[in-house]
Amino acid sequence: MSVLLLAGSPSERSRSAALLDAVSARLRAAGATVERLQIRDLSPQALLLADTGNRSVSAAMAQVARASALVVATPVYKAAYSGVLKVFLDLLPQSALKDKTVLPLATGGSPHHMLALDYALRPVLQSLSARHILPGIYATDAQVTLTPEGAYDLVPEIGLRLDEAVTALLQERQRMRPLAAFAPVAFASVRCSY
Ligand SMILES: Cc1cc2nc3c(=O)[nH]c(=O)nc-3n(C[C@H](O)[C@H](O)[C@H](O)COP(=O)(O)O)c2cc1C
Repeated sequence: MSVLLLAGSPSERSRSAALLDAVSARLRAAGATVERLQIRDLSPQALLLADTGNRSVSAAMAQVARASALVVATPVYKAAYSGVLKVFLDLLPQSALKDKTVLPLATGGSPHHMLALDYALRPVLQSLSARHILPGIYATDAQVTLTPEGAYDLVPEIGLRLDEAVTALLQERQRMRPLAAFAPVAFASVRCSY
């Protein structure tokens, strides 16, 4: 199973990206293949002008196409998700998330906008044909604390919720595995019961 971690913050040092780091460690420990895509690393001009022929943008779109599941992390900006994430999602084809499972994550300055994942991001993921969108996880800045070394630490409650979310993601992919192929049965061999 290959999972793409999509980082939607424009900031280099990012709390929402710290949630992705924690998810990444859990997925790798469970044997999943994990790729990461930082939207801030893509050409800003290509993103803004929807230049899908740009190398960095087309490579990013190919990463989305390859993944069987996505974990999408964003900061809350003005009661919604980041503009950086929006310009990238706008470039994707309408069926970009078809057959994919998505886990949305967000961090925000306060708990007031915790529903932004549901009222803002979820409909966009749905419009991209996501097969299954798992319940999102929202952490406040106070729950993603800065250590003296400059790293981010998660409070245990968020760690536990990420444990559950990763388990749900892996179980969902397991459940969606295509059924083992079986040989076709000739019509003449079909028996009816009376
Ligand atoms: C431009 C801007 C707008 C923001 N708007 C909100 C907001 O509406 N609600 C909120 O709870 N936090 C808001 N915040 C705070 C960020 O969501 C919060 O600090 C988040 O953890 C940053 O994530 P990041 O470090 O991954 O960028 C805003 C921050 C910025 C820079």
